[in-house]
Amino acid sequence: MAARLVTLLLPVTWMASMAAGTKDSIDITIPKSTDGFSPTWDWNDHCLLEDTNITFTAFYKKVGAPDSDPQICEKTGNCSCRIPSKSLDHSHNYTLVVNAISPKGGTSSNSKDFDPNHKPPPPPEVRITSHNALLTVKIWTQDLQYREQYNLTLRKNDSTEESSIDLRRRTYVFPPSDLLPEQTYCVKVNVYNMQTMESSAFSPEECFMAPAKGPLNNLRVDALDTEYLLKWDWDTERSPNVTFSVEKCFYDGRCTTIDDCKNITTPQCNVTRLLFRGTYILRSSVYDRLTEEKSFSVIQFSPIKDTVIGPPKELKMRIVDNELYINVSAPKGFSNTDIQSLCEWQTHMEYWISSTHNSEVMVKEAMQPFFKIDHLEASTTYCARAKMRCKDSDRSSQDSEDYCITTDPRSHLFAFIAGFTFLGIIFTSIILFFCGCCLKHYVKQTFFPASKLPLSIEKGFGESPLDSMRHPFLLHKEETMDRCYIVNNSDTEDLGQINHADSSNANSQDSGNYSNEGQTTGETNNH
Ligand SMILES: *[C@@H]1O[C@H](CO)[C@@H](O)[C@H](O)[C@H]1NC(C)=O
Ligand SMILES: *[C@@H]1O[C@H](CO)[C@@H](O)[C@H](O)[C@H]1NC(C)=O
Ligand SMILES: *[C@@H]1O[C@H](CO)[C@@H](O)[C@H](O)[C@H]1NC(C)=O
Ligand SMILES: *[C@@H]1O[C@H](CO)[C@@H](O)[C@H](O)[C@H]1NC(C)=O
Ligand SMILES: *[C@@H]1O[C@H](CO)[C@@H](O)[C@H](O)[C@H]1NC(C)=O
Repeated sequence: MAARLVTLLLPVTWMASMAAGTKDSIDITIPKSTDGFSPTWDWNDHCLLEDTNITFTAFYKKVGAPDSDPQICEKTGNCSCRIPSKSLDHSHNYTLVVNAISPKGGTSSNSKDFDPNHKPPPPPEVRITSHNALLTVKIWTQDLQYREQYNLTLRKNDSTEESSIDLRRRTYVFPPSDLLPEQTYCVKVNVYNMQTMESSAFSPEECFMAPAKGPLNNLRVDALDTEYLLKWDWDTERSPNVTFSVEKCFYDGRCTTIDDCKNITTPQCNVTRLLFRGTYILRSSVYDRLTEEKSFSVIQFSPIKDTVIGPPKELKMRIVDNELYINVSAPKGFSNTDIQSLCEWQTHMEYWISSTHNSEVMVKEAMQPFFKIDHLEASTTYCARAKMRCKDSDRSSQDSEDYCITTDPRSHLFAFIAGFTFLGIIFTSIILFFCGCCLKHYVKQTFFPASKLPLSIEKGFGESPLDSMRHPFLLHKEETMDRCYIVNNSDTEDLGQINHADSSNANSQDSGNYSNEGQTTGETNNH
């Protein structure tokens, strides 16, 4: 709002300052108020932007009377003051001087004359005509000003409660919904001049009676997205010899018949061609061919406000890794940019678990039409519906249908099976590994009997379990033997001798060579 005001007023103030020749001068307006004057001013938009760092002072003095004392204009705000009528000598014109000081030391000053005998604009004249169910207000002012605004105030004859409307036009049609049928109302209008910022007094009240209810019952517009169907109820059996027509009327009181709705016999008519951003009064008439009587009913219709936005097209549901992903497709109407840009839409989703005893509905809202539901339960049906909703108003689209998805009953069993399979594979691998070693051992024995078969293998398997108890001691000896083996690596004959020497003492050099493998094999065999 403020931004719009700025863009509206900036060119005006800029033009005004250009006209004054100085870019820096203070712009002063001295409107007449009920008991004096209410000057306002601005300096380089500081007031418009509500910059309170600038200090303004204002005083007024008589024009052409140099010895008269200047009078302080009593401030009513940083950029306004008040001159009471009684402080003025009506035989003189005055000048108002406004000074400005900015915190950086910049100063400016300007003055403007005013006439204490100045009269505010006279009240406008108002005329109301009632014709074929339309109530039209016409406003006249004495000298037509370009930038005028009218304040139309309406009250019921038997009430003091008022409602007012700002008008920029001089004609106005009362929206049918604002008036109760056959109720007496009174209106008064004043005029505000946006240039001088002066308001006139209100016109005398004009009273009128609202039209009676029309013969067409339940006149309504079924509006979905950008398709509008005007409908009404009619008892065709009782009154068959009639035709209907529909007109669109504008706020200036002009009406034109809608092409496809001329002398139709069905109690409805497609008015889809109306502009989305227009505001219309739709007037439906019924013409009795026998009596040649015509009567009217009116309804106000403003697509942008009244149309119903259709539901989201679809909800796509997908379960991945125990999470439910829901993707909401935009409503069909969103392909129309007018609807898409009506407001800042957000997606509103309701979801629940479908069961007989649990009816708790949970809600999620997001700017993006994507949702995720965590921690799903197995064998459970999740349902959701969604609608689009304006972020900063109550407006919303219709609800989508309900969409449901059921989680897999075996999802846990699957995890179990997967787990067991995994464990099984590991277990089998271990067994295979050991068997592999065992096999290797025998393969080595079979294919590489070496120079000699180890004595331990020949005897060992026949040994009592007690022998295996002695293995720890053997290990010691084997280690010693290994060291000897490394040292004497180059001399195979020596090694052979050592082997011979040792073999009598203990198990074998062979099992030493195969080290752990041999031992492990032995152990596995012992078990
Ligand atoms: C005051 O100014 C108006 C013009 O704004 C002029 O018509 C009128 O004669 C002036 N009155 C006096 C007393 O100078
Ligand atoms: C219009 O007039 C009514 C009653 O006189 C007043 O309450 C309302 O503030 C006025 N509206 C404007 C915009 O001046
Ligand atoms: C307004 O209402 C009063 C009663 O409250 C009635 O006497 C008067 O005639 C009505 N005026 C009009 C113009 O209908
Ligand atoms: C309607 O008009 C037809 C002739 O066009 C006539 O025969 C019929 O009686 C009329 N129905 C009524 C209810 O007036
Ligand atoms: C429609 O009906 C009106 C009477 O309401 C009549 O004057 C006019 O000729 C008819 N138009 C058509 C196209 O039948």
